[in-house]
Amino acid sequence: MSKRIIVTGGAGFIGSNLCDYLLSKGNEIVCIDNFDDYYSFTLKQNNIKQALKNPNFTFINEDIKNKNKLSKIIDGEFDAVIHLAAKAGVRYSIKNPIVYEEINVQGTKSILELAIQKNIEQFIFASSSSIYGNAPTPFDENFTDLKPINPYAQTKLLSEQIGKEYSEKYNLRFISLRFFSVYGPRLRPDLVMNKIANSIYKNEKLRIFGDGSTARDYTYVDDIVLGIDKALNYKNTKFEVFNLGNGKPVKLSEIIQIFEKETNKKLKINNIEPINGESEITWANNKKASELLGFKCQTDIEHGIKNYLTWYKNHCL
Ligand SMILES: NC(=O)c1ccc[n+]([C@@H]2O[C@H](COP(=O)([O-])OP(=O)(O)OC[C@H]3O[C@@H](n4cnc5c(N)ncnc54)[C@H](O)[C@@H]3O)[C@@H](O)[C@H]2O)c1
Repeated sequence: MSKRIIVTGGAGFIGSNLCDYLLSKGNEIVCIDNFDDYYSFTLKQNNIKQALKNPNFTFINEDIKNKNKLSKIIDGEFDAVIHLAAKAGVRYSIKNPIVYEEINVQGTKSILELAIQKNIEQFIFASSSSIYGNAPTPFDENFTDLKPINPYAQTKLLSEQIGKEYSEKYNLRFISLRFFSVYGPRLRPDLVMNKIANSIYKNEKLRIFGDGSTARDYTYVDDIVLGIDKALNYKNTKFEVFNLGNGKPVKLSEIIQIFEKETNKKLKINNIEPINGESEITWANNKKASELLGFKCQTDIEHGIKNYLTWYKNHCL
């Protein structure tokens, strides 16, 4: 059955892929995004080009923190809010912790308030694997001694706690999805695969932090989108946290090898000192999401990188 859904951050990497998918299934989307300056306005405009042609897509260019304005603009009944808008990126948060607190925590509160005011019962929140910090692997939702090691991760953990309080106080189901290193078409330019592609096709120097031994549980964007869609139908409990990850960490050095194999090019790498605030490894235990949501990753890393490169060559050169 088609739904009416508010998506925040819908002009971004994951959000725009999500909106296109939900629209293709006949849902109606009200998208809130202010084209935040973390990266190029033009990229985000291109991300929603297709969606804007769809009569079921309404775009609101507004800051998520402006609850009063949003409340006046948005009307009618909604089945869910999917809250993706945020300042993303770990490294930038280490230099700019205050703006992360403002957008990621205050902004989330503002959207929670909006949901309460509009009687929206299903709230899906984009959390992050980074909240696990250096927890034992594979990362498990039952592990509660969480010690995030950077401001970005702190804002995500705090938002989950605030979401839990709202779910206890109001008629609101808060589902937190902890995404693991998402990649694919429309990838954020600050992420490593974009830097690798730039180095291959634009001769940009590839600087990597450390010796390439850090590992990430890279998860293809279409799999994340399907996971979010599954969470829309989850109604069993009022608060829940799910890992959405592939369950197979891959070292950065292996990612570079896959790019080299796909493009038949050898990369020149400049290794620089690793920075504090980044985990050595991320690794999702995805048993809970598999059992309770029916979440299953369908794209392996080789195919995912192939698809990403096809998109990159068509849109970034
Ligand atoms: N990409 C990943 O690997 C990853 C991993 C874990 C969690 N996440 C989370 O998923 C969500 C989406 O990430 P993404 O990679 O697509 O990032 P993105 O930066 O591409 O998308 C975020 C969108 O939010 C918008 N936005 C930012 N501040 C806003 C504000 N104040 N008001 C309205 N809109 C605002 C931006 O303009 C952007 O379009 C984020 O919450 C991020 O923290 C992403």
